[in-house]
Amino acid sequence: MTDKSHLIGLLLGTEEDWPSAFESIVRRLGPVEDAAGTRHIYDVERVTIEPFELRATPRHDLVIDRLAYWYYLPREWLKKIALMDDVYLLNSPFTFQSMEKHAAYCAMMRLGLHVPDTTLVPFKNPPDHAKYAYTAAHYNQPFDLDAIAEKIGYPLFMKPYDGGAWVGVSQIRDSAELHHAYDESGQRLMHLQKAVAGYDVFARSLSIGAETMVMKFDPDQPMHARYSIAHDFLDAETGAETVSIGRLVNAFFRWEFNSCETLIRDGVVYPIDYANACPDVAITSLHYYFPWAMKALVKWSIFCTATGRKPRYDLDTRRYFDIAERTDLDYDEKLAAYRALADDYFEVERYADFCASRLAHFDGIVLEWVEGAEFDRLLVNTVQDTFPAHEHDEFIAHYRGLLGTWAQDEHTRLG
Ligand SMILES: Nc1ncnc2c1ncn2[C@@H]1O[C@H](COP(=O)(O)OP(=O)(O)OP(=O)(O)O)[C@@H](O)[C@H]1O
Ligand SMILES: [Mg+2]
Repeated sequence: MTDKSHLIGLLLGTEEDWPSAFESIVRRLGPVEDAAGTRHIYDVERVTIEPFELRATPRHDLVIDRLAYWYYLPREWLKKIALMDDVYLLNSPFTFQSMEKHAAYCAMMRLGLHVPDTTLVPFKNPPDHAKYAYTAAHYNQPFDLDAIAEKIGYPLFMKPYDGGAWVGVSQIRDSAELHHAYDESGQRLMHLQKAVAGYDVFARSLSIGAETMVMKFDPDQPMHARYSIAHDFLDAETGAETVSIGRLVNAFFRWEFNSCETLIRDGVVYPIDYANACPDVAITSLHYYFPWAMKALVKWSIFCTATGRKPRYDLDTRRYFDIAERTDLDYDEKLAAYRALADDYFEVERYADFCASRLAHFDGIVLEWVEGAEFDRLLVNTVQDTFPAHEHDEFIAHYRGLLGTWAQDEHTRLG
């Protein structure tokens, strides 16, 4: 039997919860034997930031990145290890250019998805730059903001074309709110987007490689209560459609770790936000779904490295557009065709076989971990770091309850 060692790098910002979980699970899992009899041995290391030679050989086989969207040195390091060394990345910085919402809206509109009507308007306050002033004086067209809003129709949302974390997002009901929000937008480039008013349900799906979890979400709740435990909140068809949309977006842009927000009204699925370089996987947000997310992240990392899956950064947009342009297919048929391309890209079937045959013991290991003292310490530490002191007891009990429910359900599932 031959052994092969793999180092997984975590490139991190301020998070402690999921990285500790990831490290614990990989440690408990131990070596993974593939069908050919090779034993894959895993180690996880947090990536540090330091000078690097462009010709140096990195020690990592795969890096999960949560930092490079904001910091340039690690971003350039990721580009180097991708281009020169084929290190597998979740996500690749080469996808960042389309990580704003705008590119994703454009692509998904072209593919025929129900993206609400959206208009991009120029900056309220242009960049303070002599050359820009000249260009603006000569070429900027005056425009009628009210006329744009009326064409879209109220209510609408004004939001940064590249936003995240609700920053600068506002709901607009009339002209006064429109002008107020636009004045406030300053130098941020804004979309005006038709609101999906009175939607029935908000589904937020988190995709990690070949797996997608669709969760019921309520943006009006405080952070700890946004996701609720709900298993059949969508009918089977709408659930499958939501999975297809998330997987399509990810395969299209080569994102491997991303969340997708969809609003469902009268059976129509409207995708509104699906470009997230760094999707929220905090235990205090995901609670019941946290073990699923950690399992998917570990399994996908192991699958990619043990099978030698090659990263692919070249987009395959033409194959999707060819389907979009067919006049003999309706929306459902196109979505099914996109789904087939996306499943193929993520090797969904091969991944499922790999998990079933090579990681058969994995679910049991994670269940034991969630029920053990190490996980409880992680939970307690995270609550203490996240909430004010007078709320600690309440939230520790709250999260223990939710994770206890997960463990019970998992016992039932595993028989
Ligand atoms: N077209 C729309 N129709 C209805 N609600 C919308 C629409 N666009 C945005 N919203 C609401 O505003 C919230 C924030 O918008 P959006 O997700 O686009 O911004 P964000 O800054 O990426 O937020 P987050 O980081 O929480 O995802 C959404 O979760 C949703 O509740
Ligand atoms: Mg959002």
